[in-house]
Amino acid sequence: MSLIALFLTFTSVLCVETSFATEVGSEGVPFPPVLQPSDSGLPVGHLLPLGHQREPDGPVKEYTQPLTPTEFWKHHARRPYVPLVYRQAITKAPAVTNWQSDEYIREKYGDLDVLIEKKIEDRMNPVRLRMPLSEFLDNYHHKQWYVVSLLPDPMRAEMQVPRSLLCGNFKDSILESNLWLSSGGTRSVLHYDADHNLHCLISGRKDFIMIPNMYGDKLDLADNKKAGSGFTHMNVDKVDLVKNPQVSEVPWTWATLLPGDCIFIPSRYFHQVRSYGRSVAATIMWDPFPEFNDTSCATENIDKYTALSDVRLQWTYHKGDKVIDMGYMNVEIIRKAFLQMMKEDKIEKFTPELLSHLYAHNMLNEEEGEELGEEDMEHVREVFSYMDKDKKGYVTAEEIGGMDIETLKRVARGVEEAHGPVGEDTGPRDEL
Ligand SMILES: *[C@@H]1O[C@H](CO)[C@@H](O)[C@H](O)[C@H]1NC(C)=O
Repeated sequence: MSLIALFLTFTSVLCVETSFATEVGSEGVPFPPVLQPSDSGLPVGHLLPLGHQREPDGPVKEYTQPLTPTEFWKHHARRPYVPLVYRQAITKAPAVTNWQSDEYIREKYGDLDVLIEKKIEDRMNPVRLRMPLSEFLDNYHHKQWYVVSLLPDPMRAEMQVPRSLLCGNFKDSILESNLWLSSGGTRSVLHYDADHNLHCLISGRKDFIMIPNMYGDKLDLADNKKAGSGFTHMNVDKVDLVKNPQVSEVPWTWATLLPGDCIFIPSRYFHQVRSYGRSVAATIMWDPFPEFNDTSCATENIDKYTALSDVRLQWTYHKGDKVIDMGYMNVEIIRKAFLQMMKEDKIEKFTPELLSHLYAHNMLNEEEGEELGEEDMEHVREVFSYMDKDKKGYVTAEEIGGMDIETLKRVARGVEEAHGPVGEDTGPRDEL
């Protein structure tokens, strides 16, 4: 198998929730909606929000106690993936009490930077800002600002990891955690992401519409070059059944989260999310894996309270970091792809030329085998130099096997575009 094919087998991308503002009171609206009969001869639910076109199949399966990792794997996290809701899964997290208050967040975390998006996303002209949380809190009630950012490191200490993720490859494959904070009225588009996601609500209310990936054909999917994620063009506030009549045939399930609840949104599962009033959420994302290695489950104590700061995440944000990297891949995939390719093609020396194939594919969307221009090749050589610490002009399989994660992250940043916002500078405030 070529490096590219291998890479695509393993690669994982993230498509962040996008939001549309609507005016909804903090008490929200009835959900799931009551279907309204059509008196115009047009199909039921035409030009109404998503969910008005067909009765739901029922609520997402719920548990009052999070499953053990092995049960979670058997019934939900292996194919076919099945969403679930855990009621009151993070109630012991201090965040559930403390983050109800803006004052608390401002005092304790106000100096930490977050990335901000518009509540109404313009996919053609995406605008993202980076600013201290305190500045966001001073403004978010009168501006259309929405925190969609890596959960800053110190805040992880107040967030709980539900027991289902506390051993085996679940614990080993957590990529990142994100913070979602708004004054309410956000609406995501209908979309799916590459990673598994446990979305936990800390404050407010969120409603979810869940649709298996196989119905994508009926949902007006956007062309999307990023493997593993996708979104629809449909206006979820006003579904046009003349344009998209098949939406009425798509079965769906629903969930409403309240503070302390979590929903498992499986990799590639369509979801549409609405929030009502001030809302704070933390998500935990991990890479799907084909087999469950439960070795560590024999010794890990999954019932011990575990904070998100007690587990290893691949991508994190510490105060002062120049870049907030969100939505990058699992860097272990890079290691695995490099090693497997060397083994299969019996290559002993990994060189800049090999790295250039990956770069050409990921950054330039070029077919395998095309020559890079000199400028791109220069960049590839620079990225390669991060790996080639003693400047021999090549690296060995042994060196790749033992390469530290920070080096692999530098390589990932160099050969792959992030799929979420990456914040480096503070932009002009009037853009948002
Ligand atoms: C399973 O995980 C353990 C660590 O928990 C590791 O030592 C072992 O090599 C893994 N087994 C496989 C087959 O990957």
